[in-house]
Amino acid sequence: MQHHSPIVPDPTASREQSLDPADWEELRQLGHRMLDDMMNYLQTVRERPAWQPIPAEALEAMHQPLPEFPQDASAVYEDFVRNVLPYNKNNIHPRFWSWVEGGGTPFGMLADMLASGMNPNLAIGDHAPVHIERQVLDWCKSIFSFPPTASGILTSGASMANITALVVARNQILPQVIRQKGLRAAPGQPLIYGSSETHNCVVKGAVVIGIGSDNFRKVPVDAEYRIKIDVLRQMIREDRAAGHLPFCIVGNAGTVNTGAIDDLAGLAEVARSEQLWFHVDGAFGAVPILLPEFAEQLRGLEAADSLSFDFHKWFYMNYEVGAVLIRDSAAHRDAYSSPVGYLAAHERGLAGGPEPLSNYGMELSRGFRALKVWMLLKQNGIRQYEYLVRRNISQSQYLAALVTTSPDLELMAPVPLNIVCYRYNPGNLDEAALNALNKELLQQLQEQGIATPSYTLLEGRYAIRVAITNHRSTREDFDLLIDATIRLGRSIHPPAQNQR
Ligand SMILES: Cc1ncc(COP(=O)(O)O)c(C=O)c1O
Repeated sequence: MQHHSPIVPDPTASREQSLDPADWEELRQLGHRMLDDMMNYLQTVRERPAWQPIPAEALEAMHQPLPEFPQDASAVYEDFVRNVLPYNKNNIHPRFWSWVEGGGTPFGMLADMLASGMNPNLAIGDHAPVHIERQVLDWCKSIFSFPPTASGILTSGASMANITALVVARNQILPQVIRQKGLRAAPGQPLIYGSSETHNCVVKGAVVIGIGSDNFRKVPVDAEYRIKIDVLRQMIREDRAAGHLPFCIVGNAGTVNTGAIDDLAGLAEVARSEQLWFHVDGAFGAVPILLPEFAEQLRGLEAADSLSFDFHKWFYMNYEVGAVLIRDSAAHRDAYSSPVGYLAAHERGLAGGPEPLSNYGMELSRGFRALKVWMLLKQNGIRQYEYLVRRNISQSQYLAALVTTSPDLELMAPVPLNIVCYRYNPGNLDEAALNALNKELLQQLQEQGIATPSYTLLEGRYAIRVAITNHRSTREDFDLLIDATIRLGRSIHPPAQNQR
């Protein structure tokens, strides 16, 4: 930080000014303009490119020295409009299909404004916002058929939800003792099992909670990218024989690469017979539980000891909000509650009321992310989500059909859910050249602002990966993607003569 001469006392300081506006009317007008601008921005999103690179001028605006003195709020806003807003990641765009990300909604944006205006801290206390979060958690239990006695907490996303659950699972190795003495008290090396397709955040979680990445046992998958349960059983047997301590199985409801759903009922059965904690990472793939036609594929979800999922992915809610549910609320509470005097609940007054939410998670200070969930679930009703999720699944089938009927394209994996992996294959290149070609093709699709799918490697083969958790996509968007893929692919490397 630069050092300047001592600041001259502000003559207005004697009036004990706060950070509230000196001129409320002026800020109100700016606020109305901001609201109009954002409504227009969202309404016209389809007219803009799916993505655009950040020009040097805008980048420069984001590399300025620390502001020292006040600036006009409208000047700050102009800076935002010119240099930040146009270069959004654009997961709000109808042809954004990268990673697994939702697009939010205008009403969600408004809900966030209300939450931010109220600005409550949900750590503790008797106030409406904590009751709203508890209401939302009760609704989650009802969606996923968890018992009313289960507990839960809203998190920033599925990564935090997974870690929150893994800590509870880990403590069950020796209830009370692990919490107090740490992992050295464990009578063996604790092990977690999940398929080789498990999201990296679970492995990261194993690292963060002191288990270690080597002790997340990656179980191989079958041709449909689902965990091989017989191999899992054998690995558990061998690890036990070697004196290790299996304690948790993680099932996938929707893997990040291909959307595969593990045999959750089978995993629940292994966990029960082996007396292990059964956690399900259902970040997005647990949401089709809303669809009666997915009941069989997701059977076993309701038997999980803990479940993580996101509202910001396939419930299309504004970032960030995920959730974890834990069947055994006492185990959950034991993992996170702490009897410190300054957080003790009282009988009455602000410190009375429901049990502090901070007894169920790592964070003490927490914002009011529950408000948008509450408002959006009310605005749309669960049936609207059922309809939209079903539409995304049928769009992925439509896209897969476009791929399989095009001689230039190749479907790279089964499409059980909402993720389509494909590549352009001109028929006259080796695997390394195909990888390079498809990577170039994807970059051109993005640079030209046509669409933003992402990518993955499936057994070393580069795939263009389209993950559809987008309530704005239409079938025409997928037609456009396929036309552009073929056009760009042919311009980079024309197909072999006999393939046309
Ligand atoms: C299966 C799965 N689990 C966990 C995560 C991590 O979720 P978050 O980004 O909300 O932390 C993702 C993210 O895409 C995911 O696909």
